Amino acid sequence: MADKPIVPNPFIERILTLELVRVTERAAVSSARLRGRGNEKAADQAAVDAMRRELNKLSIDGTVVIGEGERDEAPMLFIGEKVGRGDGPKVDIAVDPLEGTTLCAKDMPGSIAVMAMAEHGTLLAAPDVYMNKIAIGPGYPKGVVDLDASPQENINALAKAKGVPANEITALVLDRPRHAELIAALRAAGASVRLIQDGDVAGVIYTAMPEKTGIDIYLGIGAAPEGVLAAGALRCIGGQMQGRLILDREDTLTRAREMGVTDPNKKYEMSEMASGDVIVALTGVTDGALVAGVRFGKEVIETETIVYRSATGTVRSIHAEHREFAKFHLD
Ligand code: FBP
Repeated sequence: MADKPIVPNPFIERILTLELVRVTERAAVSSARLRGRGNEKAADQAAVDAMRRELNKLSIDGTVVIGEGERDEAPMLFIGEKVGRGDGPKVDIAVDPLEGTTLCAKDMPGSIAVMAMAEHGTLLAAPDVYMNKIAIGPGYPKGVVDLDASPQENINALAKAKGVPANEITALVLDRPRHAELIAALRAAGASVRLIQDGDVAGVIYTAMPEKTGIDIYLGIGAAPEGVLAAGALRCIGGQMQGRLILDREDTLTRAREMGVTDPNKKYEMSEMASGDVIVALTGVTDGALVAGVRFGKEVIETETIVYRSATGTVRSIHAEHREFAKFHLD
Protein backbone atom coordinates (compact mmCIF):
# COMPACT_ATOMS: atom_id res chain seq x y z
CA MET A 1 0.00 0.00 0.00
CA ALA A 2 1.42 3.44 -0.90
CA ASP A 3 2.16 5.83 1.94
CA LYS A 4 -0.51 8.48 2.42
CA PRO A 5 0.86 12.00 2.09
CA ILE A 6 1.13 13.40 5.56
CA VAL A 7 -0.04 16.84 6.48
CA PRO A 8 2.53 18.08 8.99
CA ASN A 9 1.07 19.22 12.26
CA PRO A 10 3.04 22.38 13.13
CA PHE A 11 2.22 22.18 16.80
CA ILE A 12 3.61 18.67 17.05
CA GLU A 13 6.72 19.70 15.17
CA ARG A 14 7.56 22.96 16.82
CA ILE A 15 6.56 22.47 20.37
CA LEU A 16 6.51 18.83 21.14
CA THR A 17 9.63 17.37 19.56
CA LEU A 18 11.87 18.64 22.34
CA GLU A 19 9.27 17.98 25.00
CA LEU A 20 9.36 14.32 24.08
CA VAL A 21 13.10 14.25 24.52
CA ARG A 22 12.67 15.41 28.10
CA VAL A 23 10.24 12.56 28.73
CA THR A 24 12.52 9.76 27.51
CA GLU A 25 15.57 11.38 29.13
CA ARG A 26 13.95 11.32 32.55
CA ALA A 27 12.70 7.75 32.11
CA ALA A 28 16.19 6.66 31.06
CA VAL A 29 17.89 8.35 34.00
CA SER A 30 15.44 6.87 36.50
CA SER A 31 15.83 3.32 35.22
CA ALA A 32 19.60 3.69 34.74
CA ARG A 33 19.92 4.27 38.49
CA LEU A 34 18.82 0.63 38.78
CA ARG A 35 21.13 -0.77 36.09
CA GLY A 36 22.81 -4.03 36.95
CA ARG A 37 20.75 -4.62 40.12
CA GLY A 38 19.06 -7.73 38.78
CA ASN A 39 15.61 -6.26 39.38
CA GLU A 40 13.68 -5.90 36.11
CA LYS A 41 10.46 -4.87 37.80
CA ALA A 42 11.98 -2.06 39.84
CA ALA A 43 13.87 -0.66 36.84
CA ASP A 44 10.75 -0.77 34.70
CA GLN A 45 8.63 0.85 37.41
CA ALA A 46 11.16 3.66 37.81
CA ALA A 47 10.98 4.35 34.07
CA VAL A 48 7.18 4.22 34.06
CA ASP A 49 6.86 6.62 37.00
CA ALA A 50 9.26 9.13 35.46
CA MET A 51 7.68 8.92 32.03
CA ARG A 52 4.20 9.43 33.36
CA ARG A 53 5.21 12.35 35.55
CA GLU A 54 6.90 14.08 32.60
CA LEU A 55 4.08 13.30 30.17
CA ASN A 56 1.61 14.88 32.55
CA LYS A 57 3.49 18.19 32.35
CA LEU A 58 2.91 18.46 28.59
CA SER A 59 0.25 20.59 26.95
CA ILE A 60 -1.38 17.68 25.18
CA ASP A 61 -4.66 15.81 25.31
CA GLY A 62 -3.01 12.39 25.10
CA THR A 63 -4.32 8.85 25.21
CA VAL A 64 -2.04 5.88 25.73
CA VAL A 65 -2.69 3.42 22.89
CA ILE A 66 0.41 1.29 23.45
CA GLY A 67 1.24 1.02 27.12
CA GLU A 68 2.23 -1.14 30.00
CA GLY A 69 -0.87 -3.33 29.71
CA GLU A 70 -4.49 -3.20 30.73
CA ARG A 71 -5.77 -0.96 33.50
CA ASP A 72 -6.12 -3.84 35.99
CA GLU A 73 -2.60 -5.19 35.44
CA ALA A 74 -0.68 -1.93 35.03
CA PRO A 75 -0.91 0.76 37.68
CA MET A 76 0.35 3.43 35.30
CA LEU A 77 0.52 4.18 31.60
CA PHE A 78 -2.12 1.56 30.90
CA ILE A 79 -3.85 1.39 27.54
CA GLY A 80 -6.57 4.03 27.50
CA GLU A 81 -4.98 6.19 30.22
CA LYS A 82 -5.26 9.93 29.60
CA VAL A 83 -1.96 11.78 29.85
CA GLY A 84 -0.96 15.41 29.57
CA ARG A 85 -2.58 18.57 30.86
CA GLY A 86 -5.48 18.20 28.48
CA ASP A 87 -4.98 21.65 27.00
CA GLY A 88 -3.20 20.85 23.74
CA PRO A 89 -3.61 18.72 20.62
CA LYS A 90 -5.33 15.35 20.78
CA VAL A 91 -2.58 12.79 20.36
CA ASP A 92 -1.94 9.05 20.55
CA ILE A 93 0.87 7.99 22.85
CA ALA A 94 2.84 4.75 22.57
CA VAL A 95 5.30 4.00 25.34
CA ASP A 96 7.88 1.45 26.25
CA PRO A 97 9.41 3.23 29.24
CA LEU A 98 12.12 0.58 29.52
CA GLU A 99 12.64 -1.48 26.37
CA GLY A 100 14.96 -4.34 27.32
CA THR A 101 14.21 -4.66 31.03
CA THR A 102 16.49 -7.68 31.38
CA LEU A 103 19.30 -5.88 29.56
CA CYS A 104 18.98 -3.05 32.08
CA ALA A 105 18.79 -5.39 35.07
CA LYS A 106 21.95 -7.14 33.87
CA ASP A 107 23.59 -3.91 32.65
CA MET A 108 23.95 -5.35 29.17
CA PRO A 109 23.98 -3.23 25.98
CA GLY A 110 20.83 -2.12 24.21
CA SER A 111 18.20 -1.00 26.71
CA ILE A 112 16.40 2.25 25.91
CA ALA A 113 13.49 4.40 27.04
CA VAL A 114 11.27 4.92 24.01
CA MET A 115 7.98 6.57 23.15
CA ALA A 116 6.01 7.79 20.18
CA MET A 117 3.48 10.58 19.86
CA ALA A 118 1.21 10.85 16.86
CA GLU A 119 -1.94 12.54 15.69
CA HIS A 120 -4.98 11.00 17.33
CA GLY A 121 -6.16 7.78 15.71
CA THR A 122 -3.04 7.15 13.64
CA LEU A 123 -1.15 4.55 15.68
CA LEU A 124 -2.21 0.90 15.54
CA ALA A 125 -3.66 0.05 18.94
CA ALA A 126 -1.91 -3.31 19.09
CA PRO A 127 -2.76 -5.64 21.96
CA ASP A 128 0.12 -6.99 24.02
CA VAL A 129 0.65 -10.11 21.92
CA TYR A 130 3.44 -11.29 19.65
CA MET A 131 3.94 -9.96 16.15
CA ASN A 132 5.80 -11.54 13.25
CA LYS A 133 7.96 -8.79 11.74
CA ILE A 134 10.20 -8.09 8.80
CA ALA A 135 12.09 -4.84 8.22
CA ILE A 136 14.72 -3.39 5.95
CA GLY A 137 16.25 0.06 5.63
CA PRO A 138 15.70 2.74 2.98
CA GLY A 139 16.89 2.69 -0.62
CA TYR A 140 15.28 -0.55 -1.82
CA PRO A 141 12.40 -0.98 -4.28
CA LYS A 142 9.05 -1.26 -2.56
CA GLY A 143 8.07 -4.84 -1.76
CA VAL A 144 11.53 -6.31 -2.29
CA VAL A 145 11.02 -8.45 0.82
CA ASP A 146 7.75 -9.78 2.18
CA LEU A 147 6.58 -11.33 5.42
CA ASP A 148 4.98 -14.16 3.47
CA ALA A 149 8.02 -15.01 1.36
CA SER A 150 10.47 -17.69 2.54
CA PRO A 151 13.72 -16.67 4.25
CA GLN A 152 15.57 -17.86 1.13
CA GLU A 153 13.41 -15.72 -1.18
CA ASN A 154 13.86 -12.67 1.03
CA ILE A 155 17.63 -13.05 1.33
CA ASN A 156 18.03 -13.62 -2.43
CA ALA A 157 15.82 -10.65 -3.31
CA LEU A 158 17.55 -8.36 -0.85
CA ALA A 159 21.03 -9.42 -1.99
CA LYS A 160 20.04 -8.83 -5.62
CA ALA A 161 18.62 -5.39 -4.80
CA LYS A 162 21.73 -4.49 -2.82
CA GLY A 163 23.96 -5.80 -5.59
CA VAL A 164 25.89 -8.23 -3.38
CA PRO A 165 26.01 -12.01 -3.02
CA ALA A 166 23.70 -13.53 -0.38
CA ASN A 167 26.66 -14.22 1.89
CA GLU A 168 27.12 -10.47 2.32
CA ILE A 169 23.68 -10.04 3.85
CA THR A 170 23.38 -9.93 7.63
CA ALA A 171 20.05 -10.67 9.29
CA LEU A 172 19.18 -9.73 12.85
CA VAL A 173 17.00 -12.12 14.85
CA LEU A 174 15.98 -12.37 18.52
CA ASP A 175 17.76 -15.32 20.10
CA ARG A 176 14.76 -17.48 20.97
CA PRO A 177 14.06 -21.22 20.55
CA ARG A 178 11.00 -20.28 18.43
CA HIS A 179 13.42 -18.93 15.81
CA ALA A 180 15.49 -22.10 15.36
CA GLU A 181 13.93 -22.90 11.99
CA LEU A 182 14.13 -19.33 10.76
CA ILE A 183 17.80 -19.04 11.74
CA ALA A 184 18.66 -22.32 10.02
CA ALA A 185 16.82 -21.23 6.86
CA LEU A 186 18.56 -17.84 6.80
CA ARG A 187 21.95 -19.49 7.17
CA ALA A 188 21.07 -22.05 4.50
CA ALA A 189 20.24 -19.13 2.19
CA GLY A 190 23.78 -17.84 2.75
CA ALA A 191 23.04 -14.99 5.15
CA SER A 192 24.96 -14.30 8.31
CA VAL A 193 22.69 -14.18 11.36
CA ARG A 194 23.35 -11.86 14.27
CA LEU A 195 21.42 -12.81 17.39
CA ILE A 196 20.28 -10.37 20.05
CA GLN A 197 19.03 -11.20 23.52
CA ASP A 198 16.37 -8.48 23.64
CA GLY A 199 15.41 -5.12 22.19
CA ASP A 200 13.83 -5.39 18.77
CA VAL A 201 12.75 -1.74 18.54
CA ALA A 202 16.43 -0.93 18.15
CA GLY A 203 16.83 -4.11 16.09
CA VAL A 204 14.44 -2.80 13.44
CA ILE A 205 16.04 0.67 13.47
CA TYR A 206 19.48 -0.92 12.93
CA THR A 207 18.38 -1.91 9.42
CA ALA A 208 18.17 1.78 8.49
CA MET A 209 21.84 2.36 9.27
CA PRO A 210 23.65 -0.69 7.83
CA GLU A 211 26.93 1.18 7.45
CA LYS A 212 27.03 1.62 11.22
CA THR A 213 25.37 -1.57 12.42
CA GLY A 214 26.13 -4.04 9.64
CA ILE A 215 22.49 -5.15 9.69
CA ASP A 216 20.52 -5.45 6.43
CA ILE A 217 17.30 -7.09 7.56
CA TYR A 218 15.37 -7.81 10.72
CA LEU A 219 13.14 -10.90 10.87
CA GLY A 220 11.18 -12.84 13.45
CA ILE A 221 8.67 -12.74 16.24
CA GLY A 222 8.77 -10.09 18.94
CA ALA A 223 6.22 -8.13 20.89
CA ALA A 224 3.50 -6.23 18.99
CA PRO A 225 3.77 -2.95 20.95
CA GLU A 226 7.48 -2.84 20.12
CA GLY A 227 6.50 -3.48 16.50
CA VAL A 228 4.36 -0.35 16.39
CA LEU A 229 7.08 1.78 18.01
CA ALA A 230 9.64 0.42 15.56
CA ALA A 231 7.32 1.05 12.61
CA GLY A 232 6.92 4.65 13.77
CA ALA A 233 10.67 5.17 13.90
CA LEU A 234 11.40 3.40 10.63
CA ARG A 235 8.70 5.37 8.91
CA CYS A 236 10.66 8.53 9.74
CA ILE A 237 13.88 7.18 8.24
CA GLY A 238 12.20 5.60 5.25
CA GLY A 239 12.68 1.84 5.43
CA GLN A 240 10.09 -0.89 4.89
CA MET A 241 8.39 -3.01 7.51
CA GLN A 242 5.50 -5.44 7.75
CA GLY A 243 3.97 -7.08 10.80
CA ARG A 244 1.28 -9.64 11.56
CA LEU A 245 -0.24 -10.09 15.01
CA ILE A 246 -0.04 -13.62 16.36
CA LEU A 247 -3.52 -14.31 17.66
CA ASP A 248 -3.42 -18.04 18.21
CA ARG A 249 -5.34 -18.13 21.50
CA GLU A 250 -8.98 -17.43 22.19
CA ASP A 251 -8.21 -14.77 24.83
CA THR A 252 -5.78 -12.82 22.63
CA LEU A 253 -8.17 -13.02 19.71
CA THR A 254 -10.99 -11.65 21.84
CA ARG A 255 -8.77 -8.89 23.18
CA ALA A 256 -7.62 -7.95 19.68
CA ARG A 257 -11.24 -7.79 18.48
CA GLU A 258 -12.10 -5.53 21.41
CA MET A 259 -9.26 -3.26 20.36
CA GLY A 260 -10.65 -2.96 16.86
CA VAL A 261 -8.79 -5.68 14.95
CA THR A 262 -11.27 -7.01 12.38
CA ASP A 263 -8.98 -9.31 10.39
CA PRO A 264 -6.77 -11.41 12.72
CA ASN A 265 -4.54 -12.49 9.82
CA LYS A 266 -3.95 -9.01 8.45
CA LYS A 267 -0.46 -8.19 7.27
CA TYR A 268 0.13 -4.61 8.42
CA GLU A 269 2.32 -2.35 6.36
CA MET A 270 4.49 0.14 8.21
CA SER A 271 2.23 2.97 7.07
CA GLU A 272 -0.76 1.22 8.62
CA MET A 273 0.95 0.77 11.98
CA ALA A 274 1.92 4.45 12.09
CA SER A 275 -0.20 6.28 9.57
CA GLY A 276 0.05 9.96 10.55
CA ASP A 277 2.56 12.54 11.62
CA VAL A 278 4.56 10.70 14.26
CA ILE A 279 7.48 11.62 16.49
CA VAL A 280 9.55 8.89 18.14
CA ALA A 281 12.11 9.61 20.86
CA LEU A 282 14.51 7.14 22.42
CA THR A 283 17.17 7.63 25.07
CA GLY A 284 19.89 5.13 25.93
CA VAL A 285 19.71 3.47 29.34
CA THR A 286 22.65 1.12 28.82
CA ASP A 287 25.20 1.57 26.03
CA GLY A 288 24.10 0.45 22.59
CA ALA A 289 24.77 0.85 18.87
CA LEU A 290 22.13 3.59 18.56
CA VAL A 291 22.82 5.64 21.67
CA ALA A 292 25.13 5.58 24.65
CA GLY A 293 23.68 4.82 28.05
CA VAL A 294 23.24 7.31 30.88
CA ARG A 295 26.49 8.54 32.44
CA PHE A 296 26.37 9.57 36.08
CA GLY A 297 29.07 12.10 36.90
CA LYS A 298 29.66 13.92 40.15
CA GLU A 299 28.00 17.10 38.93
CA VAL A 300 26.54 16.18 35.58
CA ILE A 301 24.32 13.40 34.28
CA GLU A 302 24.72 12.83 30.53
CA THR A 303 22.10 11.34 28.23
CA GLU A 304 21.95 10.53 24.54
CA THR A 305 18.66 10.72 22.70
CA ILE A 306 17.52 10.37 19.11
CA VAL A 307 14.23 11.91 18.06
CA TYR A 308 12.66 11.04 14.70
CA ARG A 309 9.83 12.79 12.89
CA SER A 310 7.95 11.27 9.98
CA ALA A 311 6.49 14.32 8.26
CA THR A 312 9.89 15.81 7.56
CA GLY A 313 12.18 12.80 7.99
CA THR A 314 14.20 14.80 10.50
CA VAL A 315 16.44 12.82 12.84
CA ARG A 316 17.92 14.78 15.74
CA SER A 317 20.64 13.43 18.00
CA ILE A 318 20.69 15.15 21.34
CA HIS A 319 23.48 14.83 23.82
CA ALA A 320 22.38 16.44 27.07
CA GLU A 321 24.19 17.37 30.25
CA HIS A 322 21.82 17.60 33.19
CA ARG A 323 23.11 19.59 36.12
CA GLU A 324 20.00 20.22 38.14
CA PHE A 325 18.92 16.66 38.60
CA ALA A 326 22.50 15.53 39.16
CA LYS A 327 22.85 18.10 41.94
CA PHE A 328 19.60 17.31 43.67
CA HIS A 329 19.61 13.59 42.92
CA LEU A 330 16.20 13.90 41.30
CA ASP A 331 14.64 10.92 39.58
P1 FBP B 1 10.87 -6.13 27.59
O1 FBP B 1 11.61 -4.87 27.74
O2 FBP B 1 9.40 -5.95 27.83
O3 FBP B 1 11.50 -7.19 28.41
O4 FBP B 1 10.95 -6.54 26.04
C1 FBP B 1 12.15 -6.93 25.48
C2 FBP B 1 11.94 -7.69 24.19
O5 FBP B 1 13.16 -8.27 23.79
C3 FBP B 1 11.37 -6.87 23.05
O6 FBP B 1 12.32 -6.04 22.42
C4 FBP B 1 10.82 -7.95 22.15
O7 FBP B 1 9.88 -7.46 21.23
C5 FBP B 1 10.22 -8.90 23.16
O8 FBP B 1 10.98 -8.71 24.37
C6 FBP B 1 10.27 -10.34 22.77
O9 FBP B 1 9.51 -11.07 23.66
P2 FBP B 1 10.02 -12.42 24.38
O10 FBP B 1 11.10 -12.03 25.36
O11 FBP B 1 8.82 -12.95 25.06
O12 FBP B 1 10.55 -13.31 23.32
